[in-house]
Amino acid sequence: MLRQNIIDRADNRVLLMHVTGFNHARLLAYDDYVLTEAQIENYNQLVPRVQRGEPLAYIVGYKEFYSRQFKVTPDTLIPRPETELLVEQVVEKASNGAKVLDLGTGSGCIAVTLKLERSDLSVTAVDKFAATLEVARRNAADLHAEIELICSDWYSELAARKFNIIVSNPPYIERDDQHLLALSFEPQAALTDFADGLSCIRTIVSLSREYLLPDGWLMIEHGYDQGTVVHEIFTKNGLSDVTTILDYAGLERITMGKTLKY
Ligand SMILES: C[S@@+](CC[C@H](N)C(=O)[O-])C[C@H]1O[C@@H](n2cnc3c(N)ncnc32)[C@H](O)[C@@H]1O
Repeated sequence: MLRQNIIDRADNRVLLMHVTGFNHARLLAYDDYVLTEAQIENYNQLVPRVQRGEPLAYIVGYKEFYSRQFKVTPDTLIPRPETELLVEQVVEKASNGAKVLDLGTGSGCIAVTLKLERSDLSVTAVDKFAATLEVARRNAADLHAEIELICSDWYSELAARKFNIIVSNPPYIERDDQHLLALSFEPQAALTDFADGLSCIRTIVSLSREYLLPDGWLMIEHGYDQGTVVHEIFTKNGLSDVTTILDYAGLERITMGKTLKY
């Protein structure tokens, strides 16, 4: 097996799994496996892409989320581990048979995972971009998750629909944030609102009451430094029981609030 010092050890392992088709256990078990010429050629073509900083998920074409493989392309954000926390919150709070809406579904990682973790839920997912939605559609089909997918600018194609839970990981990075420079391979419209970082959140929150059933939850992932202001946006828009929770790194990451029972 090739041992390369020119890229990170963990990246090398993922690349080797990709070129051999081995899973992790098989890769470890066949430590003395000799790559075929075609595999070496494939590997040698991929290493420079890793060295140029292209995310491994785009090179191998998938990313693990909630222990499942999601197809990703440059049309989709690469799912992040902290987003699993958002899924956990919905799984915990959704009542039996609840209708859930995922706004800005990307690869479909939130919507598909929710359906697979809770088959009783009725899950609708929207994204503004047809090419992005197509990746979500393929993930839903490959992972056998029956969800509804709609091309929509936030709520624009959802007239008169009502949900028990609305969940979203919207673009929330501010236009001038230096972090964007390191994320140049990912779709910019998935990362930033090209404004102050809060405009998508304001839209989603301010319209949410039209689309939420009584006693319904709105849950939004946001930047580590946006907890206070997002909490304020929820409160100003009449949501109650507003709570901001921390991610695994101890950073304010998700804000949620409820509509009234009536
Ligand atoms: C941060 S990504 C989240 C993707 C996925 N939910 C995840 O957690 O990995 C934001 C997503 O919102 C979508 N989006 C951006 N503006 C939108 C809009 N106006 N209406 C619907 N979706 C939008 C982007 O295409 C992108 O897929």
